Amino acid sequence: MKQYTAAFERNREPIAGALREALGDCRRVMEIGSGSGQHAAWFASEFPHVSWCPTDLAAMLPSIDAWRQECGLDNIEPARALDVLSLDWPAIEFDAVVTINTLHIVSFEGVRSILAGAAGRLPPGGLMFVYGPFRFSGRALEPSNANFDAWLRERDPDSGLRLFDDVDGIAARHGLRFERDVPMPANNHALWWRKSPSDAGE
Ligand SMILES: C[S@@+](CC[C@H](N)C(=O)[O-])C[C@H]1O[C@@H](n2cnc3c(N)ncnc32)[C@H](O)[C@@H]1O
Repeated sequence: MKQYTAAFERNREPIAGALREALGDCRRVMEIGSGSGQHAAWFASEFPHVSWCPTDLAAMLPSIDAWRQECGLDNIEPARALDVLSLDWPAIEFDAVVTINTLHIVSFEGVRSILAGAAGRLPPGGLMFVYGPFRFSGRALEPSNANFDAWLRERDPDSGLRLFDDVDGIAARHGLRFERDVPMPANNHALWWRKSPSDAGE
């Protein structure tokens, strides 16, 4: 039932470092595409003042809940089903959205849904935090990311590394103001946005 990802062992500390700066006084995080559930359990222990709400496609929920039960923390909530392509988001309130290694997996429509769905539900000042590999205009893709991108597209032509400007353009149209890009090991990035005080979203 419990799934493991090797990448988790490598990226949990760098991501926790970026989250420490980004989360500030956020109190309830909705995580999108929680995967195995290892990050949720780890971040719940790293950030005891935050209630962590993991979500993913229904098939992933048993693994997330197995990690939740094993860690025994009361600031991680039972996993909820969320397919970002549906309009059926869990009816919960949160002041931060965190998504790790998902924007290059879901289709571009999925990227739009994540940003629009989060922006439409975050309060002013709320956090949208994304971790993963990205393309940046005017910069060649690093060889490791170019290989990864080719592998992803071969597997699923709708997936692949996203151009930061495209992601930021969607975010801006939905009232999310870009705040920080923190380079992470292995050519990944922690990127975050804040919901604008005036709701300029579409
Ligand atoms: C590469 S995994 C990352 C998992 C985890 N965040 C991590 O970093 O270990 C991508 C995740 O996106 C989820 N996912 C794919 N399509 C999705 C969709 N339409 N809605 C929600 N989650 C989706 C997958 O189930 C998977 O857990």
